[in-house]
Amino acid sequence: MNRDAGHFNLLARVLHWLMAAMILAMLFVGVTMVASLHWRPMLIDLHRPLGIAILLLVLVRLYNRLRHRPPPLPADLPAWQAAAAHASHWVLYGLMLAMPLVGWGMLSAGGYPIVMGGGVHLPAILPHNPALYAALRNAHSLLAYVLFATVVMHLSAALFHLWVRRDGVFQAMAKGPEKERNDDAG
Ligand code: HEM
Repeated sequence: MNRDAGHFNLLARVLHWLMAAMILAMLFVGVTMVASLHWRPMLIDLHRPLGIAILLLVLVRLYNRLRHRPPPLPADLPAWQAAAAHASHWVLYGLMLAMPLVGWGMLSAGGYPIVMGGGVHLPAILPHNPALYAALRNAHSLLAYVLFATVVMHLSAALFHLWVRRDGVFQAMAKGPEKERNDDAG
């Protein structure tokens, strides 16, 4: 495992901000497409491939995360905050994997085609089963609420580090290698 002191590596930073935008878009696209008959066909055609792209990117991100140790949290961070940070990061990874898989499995169990656009269809990953479809449909909604709540907490914590503690934690994900943690502290 490589150690990158002070900041996350370039791939981690690019994937972090790209996926943050994609996930926020997916949450709003998802809510709008179930609420609006007018926008539904267009948004659902966007929702499926964007969700599968998130699934592929999170695999790359996990691989990178396991190969490159992230910068340590500040030594003076209260233990409960450090524990909450680690737990929420792994919850986010779990949800980034689970949401697309549940979406894909739900359409499979419902017997729907899994259309990516451009004539590309994905295979079903589950057998046709209406009861399973209903359970996964509920799970997809429930996990979306959990994802939204976790993203809001994550964002709040990031802004707390940036504006209140000013301890360089935010900069570790925002800046290039020329800046080390604690540059902006004080
Ligand atoms: C990170 C990935 C994903 C996120 C954040 C996400 C989010 C959402 C949200 C917020 C909803 C609305 C839920 C509700 O209000 O009940 C939704 C619905 C839906 N999602 Fe996803 N989704 C993701 C991936 C996928 C994937 C990969 C597929 C399929 C390949 C998919 C298929 C669907 C379908 C079909 C619905 C609407 C179901 C209906 O109207 O009955 N989703 N999604």
